Amino acid sequence: MSSTNDVPVLEARDLVRTFHSKDREIRALDHVSVRLMPGKIMGVVGESGSGKSTLIRHIACLEKPDEGQLFCCGQEYTGRNAAFAGRHMQMIFQDAYGSFDPKMCFAKSIREGRNGRKGSDGKKAEDDPALLRNLLEKVHLDESFLKRYPGSLSGGQCQRMSIVRAVYSGARILLCDEATSALDVASQAQVIELLKELKEEYAISMIFVSHDLGVVSQLCDEVMVMKNGRVVEHGDCLEVISHPKEAYTRELLDAVMEVGDETGIHEHSHSDTPEWKETDLV
Ligand SMILES: Nc1ncnc2c1ncn2[C@@H]1O[C@H](COP(=O)(O)OP(=O)(O)OP(=O)(O)O)[C@@H](O)[C@H]1O
Ligand SMILES: [Mg+2]
Repeated sequence: MSSTNDVPVLEARDLVRTFHSKDREIRALDHVSVRLMPGKIMGVVGESGSGKSTLIRHIACLEKPDEGQLFCCGQEYTGRNAAFAGRHMQMIFQDAYGSFDPKMCFAKSIREGRNGRKGSDGKKAEDDPALLRNLLEKVHLDESFLKRYPGSLSGGQCQRMSIVRAVYSGARILLCDEATSALDVASQAQVIELLKELKEEYAISMIFVSHDLGVVSQLCDEVMVMKNGRVVEHGDCLEVISHPKEAYTRELLDAVMEVGDETGIHEHSHSDTPEWKETDLV
C-alpha cells in the first residue's frame, strides 16, 4: 500500500524545451525527469549552460515546456493552475538582495510572502509570530532585523532572510538556484547548515542547483548531473561523488579537486558546523 511518503512532492516527467535564436536552436531541456521525495534534497550540477536554471524555472512555472508534465504532491500542474504549485514551493535565488523590494522593510516583505498566498493546506495563512521568532532564531538574526531594509544587510544575512521568508510563507519545497554561490566560505557554511536544520525541523524538500560539488556533497541526498540539457548521471549523492560512472561527472569532480581543499568534498557531518559570528547578531 502506498503512503504519502511514497509520493514524490515534486515530479517532472520528460521535460523538453528548445530555445530558438536567429541562427540556431538550443535544446536546454532534453527529456529531463526529476523525482523529489518528501524531506529530501536533490542536487543539480553541471557546467554553465547545461540547463540547471532552465529546469528550475520550468518547475516553478516561470516558463512553459514544449513537452513533458509536472506534478506536485501527485497532482499535475501547468501554467494554468500554477497557483496550486506556488503554494507549495518558493525559489531562493543567488542574488538575495534582488529578490526583495529595496523600499520595503523585512517585516513587510516577510509578512506579504505569507499573507498574500494560501498555505500548503489551501487556507490563507494567518500571521504566526511564534514561527517567525523561531525562524529568526534559527538564522541567528534578532527581531530588530525585521525593521531593516535589504541594503543594510550583508549578503549572507540577506540570503538568510530570504530563507526565513520562504519557510514562513508556508512553502515546503525550496527551489534553490545557486543560493550559496555569491557568499564567502563562512556565510556559505552557515546557510548550508541552516538548510540542513530546516529540512529536519520543517520537513522541507529542496532542489539545490549548484556548480559546486563540494557544497552539494555536504547537503544533498541525491544528485543529478546535467550536460547539454540532458541528465547524464543520477543517484545517491555520496555514491555518485565517490564512484562516478560517467566521464563527465569525473571531469566535474576533477575540476573541484583542482580548486583545492577549500571546497572540501566530504561526507555529511556535523563536526564542521560553522560558528555564528557575534557580528551576525548585531
Ligand atoms: N530565454 C532564453 N532564450 C534563449 N536561450 C536561453 C534562454 N534561457 C536559457 N537559454 C539557453 O539555454 C541553455 C541553458 O541555460 P541555463 O541558464 O539553464 O544554464 P545553467 O546550467 O543554469 O548555467 P549557469 O551555471 O551558467 O547558470 C543555455 O545555452 C542558455 O543560453
Ligand atoms: Mg543557472
